[in-house]
Amino acid sequence: MVDLIQKKRDGLELTKEEIQFIIKGYTSGDIPDYQMSAFTMAIFFQGMTDNERAELTMAMVYSGDTIDLSEIKGIKVDKHSTGGVGDTTTLVLGPLVASVGVPVAKMSGRGLGHTGGTIDKLEAVPGFHVEIENNQFIDLVNKNKVAVIGQSGNLTPADKKLYSLRDVTATVNSIPLIASSIMSKKIAAGADAIVLDVKTGAGAFMKDLEESKALAKAMVDIGNLVGRRTMAVISDMSQPLGYAIGNALEVKEAIETLSGKGPKDLEELCLVLGSYMVLLAKKADTLEEARTLLTESISSGKALETMKTFLEAQGGDSSVVDNPGSLPQAKFVMELEAKQDGYVSEIIADSVGTAAMLLGAGRATKESEIDLAVGLVLNKKIGDEVKQGESLATIYSNQEDVKAVKEKLYESIKVTSARVEAPKLIYATVE
Ligand code: URA
Ligand code: CA
Repeated sequence: MVDLIQKKRDGLELTKEEIQFIIKGYTSGDIPDYQMSAFTMAIFFQGMTDNERAELTMAMVYSGDTIDLSEIKGIKVDKHSTGGVGDTTTLVLGPLVASVGVPVAKMSGRGLGHTGGTIDKLEAVPGFHVEIENNQFIDLVNKNKVAVIGQSGNLTPADKKLYSLRDVTATVNSIPLIASSIMSKKIAAGADAIVLDVKTGAGAFMKDLEESKALAKAMVDIGNLVGRRTMAVISDMSQPLGYAIGNALEVKEAIETLSGKGPKDLEELCLVLGSYMVLLAKKADTLEEARTLLTESISSGKALETMKTFLEAQGGDSSVVDNPGSLPQAKFVMELEAKQDGYVSEIIADSVGTAAMLLGAGRATKESEIDLAVGLVLNKKIGDEVKQGESLATIYSNQEDVKAVKEKLYESIKVTSARVEAPKLIYATVE
């Protein structure tokens, strides 16, 4: 290991066998944290070649279990977002692309953060559950083209260990390490092809557009080198996506989007990401054709029908689709009134997310309970004109006192007197 740290420190390229030796040794505990720390710091400064990145990714894939989805007919395309606030795309994309024949076999987690993960959000639908057996999961995807199962098995233990180490050694922010970390998890979960939504802007992991592009390109290159067709979209996270931030509220927003009545930014991003998924699954020959399939499925009601079938198949009450009033409802509904006339110039996604978490929409620690009913719905986005007293956002709360939440929101949503341009939604695509 000393020799390999030195080799990387000096900027030389490691071989496949050397990378496998390191990942195997680190996973088993034979290589200690202090040597791995030095190694990741060497990567941080020296970077990795395309081949090293691909070998690192595959070594992490094989550090634990891999999911075998070969019993599912068709090309399994997974989508991954690098994270953001109020990102409801998965709830929309699953049923949407399934409705045109793309198999969606989603393994999802609960996770920490501003709102719950995909599973928490879906559990806002009364009766819906993800505790299903593997064979039932596969049957459901073959039958309905979409199912969601909770995370199980020992997937990419090398990544788990490495990510925790990077967190405390100032080596999280390294493109080869981030790219291999994300790609290893998708590949271990059985994806044949991958569509990536790399967020950029104030609320994203990568705040700078050039960095976001470099990360997207790194992941696309890894995917294609290891035989998983991969494409990436770089999308805006300078403000939250859509309007809703909160579990039941996002389910309602997803249902509206599937009926063609959702927020335009959320709908557009879903159509762009969805078109790539359809293309990679070979259900269309061109992006244009893929997009037409998706928009027709929304206007004909097929997308919404698929949502109903999907919810019912996993015990959910599908009447929420026609009647979102049967989703969990908050006791108190309050408005955040604008203090002055002007234009919304900034909606700091991170701190809007923190406000949602203060209401109970997310988990601060693994043990925290989520309140599925609460959250926020933005009534204005960047660039919108606003009059004093008009509502900037609606607060859904189960506690009457929302003083701290309002304070946080006033800090996050800035209004200026000068006219402001709405930000771009999609900055680039990497194919
Ligand atoms: N997300 C991941 O899964 N891994 C990283 O390294 C960074 C973000
Ligand atoms: Ca949203």
